[in-house]
Amino acid sequence: MSTVLTTDPGEAAAFIRDGEVVAFPTETVYGLGANVLNRTAIAKIFAAKERPADNPLIAHVAHVDQLTELVQHIPETAQRLMDAFFPGPLTLVLPKTNAVPASATGGLDTIGVRMPDHPIAQALIEASQAPLVAPSANRSGRPSPTTWQAVAEDLDGRIACILQGPPSTRGLESTVLDCTKAVPLVLRPGMISLEALQTVVPETYIPDQQTKAHRRSPGTRYRHYAPRAQVILAPSSDMVPRSSTCAFIGLTTPDFPTWVYQHVFPDQEAYARALYTAFRESDQLGVDAIYCQTVPRTGLGRALMDRLERAARG
Ligand code: TXA
Ligand code: MG
Repeated sequence: MSTVLTTDPGEAAAFIRDGEVVAFPTETVYGLGANVLNRTAIAKIFAAKERPADNPLIAHVAHVDQLTELVQHIPETAQRLMDAFFPGPLTLVLPKTNAVPASATGGLDTIGVRMPDHPIAQALIEASQAPLVAPSANRSGRPSPTTWQAVAEDLDGRIACILQGPPSTRGLESTVLDCTKAVPLVLRPGMISLEALQTVVPETYIPDQQTKAHRRSPGTRYRHYAPRAQVILAPSSDMVPRSSTCAFIGLTTPDFPTWVYQHVFPDQEAYARALYTAFRESDQLGVDAIYCQTVPRTGLGRALMDRLERAARG
């Protein structure tokens, strides 16, 4: 299959309406979209990504009216969170309707829904006249793509179309929040911090990694976000060996910067925005190991540490 590149949401939407899959930009990472009600198209997403069938997809909407066909009802806490954070990088897990195919949700009776804060994503959803289920547009296990070029690197020839846009401005995926119980719980830390969620619903919490609740988000079980090079967590930039086969990324400049590839970011937002690109660029240079400076586990730091630890597990 030859993959069509376009900047026109209308041209991309025609592929969606034909039952094909289309990669598109969002503020977090690029997604690989299909009509949520089209089982054949959903199967194409899993095939293109080589994604395990029990890993559920997030449905993307352009306006709240589209939630009616996807979720049974919107609890009061979920409504407050939507008022505060939609559109934006927050995914709410809610009981699904029968209209949503089981293959979209990995067999679960819930569905994750989010409204991307991105004009091109919204234009594509509008022109497709349907909500779009979309995982990140990478091959399973690889770092998520934050540019259309990274999508092409993983999926060229495997999908019908890439809707080209600028690089993603946020860089890490949405926060996935289970809203099926009275108290919301974070299944995947992401671009909306726990602290921000707690300003709206103070009881919101992140379960301990080993608890059963955490296993409710099947995606968190799998190998994730990993470059080919070994990822090594470095609390300090100075404990890193000087080696021409290593890369360094972090927030403070090492004393002896002799890396093949070194990226020192001004703050956590910039670190998050560029992390997956740094992984991919390090791989292109053929480095053996990427030393990644750790950050405190608060605010955006929770999402950064989550992705770094998963990548380090390889
Ligand atoms: O920012 C994002 O969320 C991006 C962009 C494209 O929107 N999407 C994304 O999708 O990261 P994906 O498929 O790569 O990750 C979805 C995560 C997985 O960990 C999955 O297990 C979890 O969300 N998830 C989706 N639906 C769920 C559900 N019904 N119950 C529990 N976890 C769910
Ligand atoms: Mg993903």
